[in-house]
Amino acid sequence: MESIAPAPNCALCPRLVAFREKNSRKFPDKFNAPVPSFGPLDAEILIVGLAPGLKGANFSGRPFTGDYAGDLLYATLLKFGLAKGTYAKHKDDGLSLVNCRITNAVKCVPPENKPTTDEEATCRPFLIDEIAAMPNLQAILSLGLISHKAVLKTFDLKQSAFKFAHGAEHALNDQIKLIDSYHCSRYNTQTRRLSTPMFEEIFEKITAKIVC
Ligand code: URA
Repeated sequence: MESIAPAPNCALCPRLVAFREKNSRKFPDKFNAPVPSFGPLDAEILIVGLAPGLKGANFSGRPFTGDYAGDLLYATLLKFGLAKGTYAKHKDDGLSLVNCRITNAVKCVPPENKPTTDEEATCRPFLIDEIAAMPNLQAILSLGLISHKAVLKTFDLKQSAFKFAHGAEHALNDQIKLIDSYHCSRYNTQTRRLSTPMFEEIFEKITAKIVC
């Protein structure tokens, strides 16, 4: 195994390093570093987001924590028994994940929330190593198209054979399924592309197959 997480001072993506340095000057008391994954490596479920939000995960240091998207994600995880405790939008809230882990396709906050294709490719080895370090993994939940593409690339699979659709299920190999969901972003929930019942259906599907 190489490394499942970038170093706090990772210098692989010049644009992201410049953005991190700017944010560190502007918000010196915030996390401002690659955001490590959250949850146990022996989990059966891996949730893959896009990248930390500037004032959410990038400030708090935990995926989706403090992000608008985290409100729906953590409420749903708590409802389905995939999290324990109380979600309080900071990483010392005592919340723990049960049989699931959360990561991002790109570990550093990108300007305007948009990583470049090169940045996605540069960060991908961490995802590859993380998946390899999860011996019990059975389901990967991709939140959004970029995550879906990143996961397919980690398995060396062609996107043309595995089309993204909300609720779609794809066999990545004999052990691991990919399940797609629209990203639980503010944009998707406010435009009603994704409703709470639609998001919960995804978790019903996953937890029906996996005993939590
Ligand atoms: N916060 C994250 O950590 N990831 C996302 O994809 C969105 C918000």
